[in-house]
Amino acid sequence: MYKRRSFVFGLGAVAGAGACILTDKVKPLMADIGQKIDAARRDFTVVGEEPLRERAKAKGLIYGAASSYQELAKDAEFANRFAEECGIIVPVDSMKWKAQRPSPKSFDFKQGDWLAKFAEDRGMQLRGHTLIWHQALPDWFEANVNKQNAEQVMLEHIATVAGHYAGKMHSWDVVNEAILPANGRSDGLRRTPWLEFLGPEYIDLAFQAAAQADPQALLVYNDHRLDYDTPEMEGRRVAVMKLLEGLKSRKTPVQALGIQGHLFAHEMPFNPKKLRQFLSDVAGLGLKIMITELDVTDRRLRGDIAVRDRLVAGVYQDYLDVVLDEPAVIGVLNWGLSDRYTWIGAVRPRDDGMGVRPLPLDQDFKRKPAWQAMARAFDNAPSRLLSS
Ligand code: G3I
Repeated sequence: MYKRRSFVFGLGAVAGAGACILTDKVKPLMADIGQKIDAARRDFTVVGEEPLRERAKAKGLIYGAASSYQELAKDAEFANRFAEECGIIVPVDSMKWKAQRPSPKSFDFKQGDWLAKFAEDRGMQLRGHTLIWHQALPDWFEANVNKQNAEQVMLEHIATVAGHYAGKMHSWDVVNEAILPANGRSDGLRRTPWLEFLGPEYIDLAFQAAAQADPQALLVYNDHRLDYDTPEMEGRRVAVMKLLEGLKSRKTPVQALGIQGHLFAHEMPFNPKKLRQFLSDVAGLGLKIMITELDVTDRRLRGDIAVRDRLVAGVYQDYLDVVLDEPAVIGVLNWGLSDRYTWIGAVRPRDDGMGVRPLPLDQDFKRKPAWQAMARAFDNAPSRLLSS
């Protein structure tokens, strides 16, 4: 009897182990097939050759991308393609403290001014990123800024930088990434030097100072990881709503939410209904919304480039179909325009060593299925012209 039971038990264990091996073997294959089916079923046909900036403009939207002085000043072909596709530009790094503040008493506007002139010469709008952030702070910051002088240092920076570009800016990311529920605070705020020195009021102070320095610019609170149906991102959406409600209740001049939109292909559950509800809740506060740093990490995608590109385009399609349906959304910017210039290659490389392809144009500035997905999304978007 005992022998028979242990034989059956043994058999079960082997079967179980076999199943695990099978699952481990089958799962990637199923994912592969799933991805191929997803890629194949999508329709990315686009009418005409109009650039994205014109397709967005035709619906009362604004389209553009991030780039840098280094990229545009040294790559004339890219500069031309950029100006063709983009109606607005945001500097990747040139308007952060690290680039603008070589020392506690000095400001360096060289790169920012070059980009402002580039935008003006090419009929593009300009937006600023970012006045207050816990990253990209200059090396002298830690030794020179403290509880006693932080407010004066912050207000001087905002008055000088926003004042310098006053009247030239479409919008400013006044405060960037101030939310991190994982830090355990009841208000969900991230523990940053600004919070440590000035308390939660640093956000209100920053917006009031920006409104004074440039009354024309749209003042934006910008944040990331708000897009997917995960407990972490749900917690972030709740914390961002709480922050925005608080700012509005205190009549702090925040006018828009910037949703960065760093997306992931086939890594996290996307729930259109939940994202639609979040966008509507933000709009319900009387705020505008911009997608400020859109790109699609493709490190988990398998298959050849043609399949990968269609999968990345599918992520753009699903996301923009939801986002552009919300009338409070006024614009979309990619964080980069061509796969030749993207932060993702350095930060989220592919295991197979192949180049990442997160953006609408490829390494040679050719339009990809992602470009087609964005063009279709703008062409199919409800017009804002009629409603405004
Ligand atoms: O320019 C210096 C160069 O002189 C030096 O040799 C080199 C090596 O240290 O560093 C170069 O500066 C780098 C800069 O990018 C320019 O490429 C900084 O180290 C590096 O930290 C900086 O990274 C930027 C990062 O923000 C931090 O500011 C990325 O380019 C930029 O894409 C990234 O953008 C952020 C947004 O601001 C906020 N949302 C997420 C997004 C991606 O992380």
